[in-house]
Amino acid sequence: MSHTGLDVQAVRARFPVLQRTINGAPLVYLDSANTSQKPDVVIDAMSAFMRHGYAPVNRSAYQLAVEADDAYEGARRRVARFINAARASEVVFTKNATESLNLVAATWGRANLQVGDVVVLTHMEHHANIVPWHMLAAERGIELRWVPLTADGQLDLEAVPALLEGARAFAFTAMSNVLGTITPVRHLCDAAHAAGAIAIVDGCQYVPHNVTDVQAWNADFVAFSSHKLCGPTGIGVLWGREALLDAMPPFLGGGNMIADVRLDGFTTAELPAKFEAGTPPIVEAIGLGAAIDFLEGLDMRSVRQHEVDLAQYALSSLTERFGDDITIHGPTNVEVRGATFSFAFRGIHPHDLSQILDQHNVCVRAGHHCAKPLMRVLGASATARASFYLYNDRSEVDALADALDGASDIFGF
Ligand SMILES: Cc1ncc(COP(=O)(O)O)c(C=O)c1O
Repeated sequence: MSHTGLDVQAVRARFPVLQRTINGAPLVYLDSANTSQKPDVVIDAMSAFMRHGYAPVNRSAYQLAVEADDAYEGARRRVARFINAARASEVVFTKNATESLNLVAATWGRANLQVGDVVVLTHMEHHANIVPWHMLAAERGIELRWVPLTADGQLDLEAVPALLEGARAFAFTAMSNVLGTITPVRHLCDAAHAAGAIAIVDGCQYVPHNVTDVQAWNADFVAFSSHKLCGPTGIGVLWGREALLDAMPPFLGGGNMIADVRLDGFTTAELPAKFEAGTPPIVEAIGLGAAIDFLEGLDMRSVRQHEVDLAQYALSSLTERFGDDITIHGPTNVEVRGATFSFAFRGIHPHDLSQILDQHNVCVRAGHHCAKPLMRVLGASATARASFYLYNDRSEVDALADALDGASDIFGF
């Protein structure tokens, strides 16, 4: 048992890849902010569907297709329940969070923004929540404003009201993939609405690790990916308020998204099909549904508690052991952070560090983490990042620390 009620060893046993050893030693997978590992139930659900139930979901009349349609829509209902959406038709399946955010910028943005209109972003956004807005700015001449950060890597909330003055949209992350910072989403959504702007939440790093309630957030759009929450790659989610989705033009055109097509034009299907052009990720939706059942079975409150415990343990043990030799970016208060740690260690280049850690089977990511503006704020071109999830335990924090000692030996510290 962990210190928080989550039986981590039982959870771990559900992930086949975590049973692997490399050169006789266990795998220490600390790259879940990048992508998470998959439990047996997800692998089995996808495999069973392909073996015994595979069929299209375009409402064909035969039994096999009716079952496939039920399974696909069942996955949508699971997602809706998981994030407390008011209705399943507000859940749009996309390719990933990147496509979800592009969909909002390209459709809501093009339909609603004119030259000089303002969109507010933050210094801690992932490129997926920056580049689509840059693209729109180049096309439409919109103005982008940026919420700066405090010294401990939180949003500077005092700067928000002035930046939101006259803004039409505020797009921000619920949790930074670099700093681990959890932002006050409800407060930010309310601030956006008070200024007459809509609130677009990048939930990519938050949703896999916390209880999510899009209605309590009072958000307008929320984007996230399946592959970071124990589901497969190839499917993402855009949740949006029905009235906004209804009023938006479609994103991609083709089959499934139309009500009628004539030589002189087309009309769009009802939600959510309007935004799901072409053959959707059917098998992936089945996997995502299974991942959500798995997470709900564990209880997202326990998952969060477990990660708070791990975050606290990692912060105190790494700083105790390495003192000034390690710089961990982001908040030190675990109430406002997840268990994702970007760090600098004894001046060793992050890429060298990750290679040396790999010799100890410790998998961490090194690089700019698709957050180059934030890297500039940190004054670094890259960081090493260790990110923990529900299947990691305290012994893996120790394994990271031991591997860091190994790196010190190699570099002669
Ligand atoms: C905060 C954040 N937003 C968006 C994304 C993009 O997710 P995806 O690559 O699954 O589209 C990521 C992925 O790392 C992320 O961490």
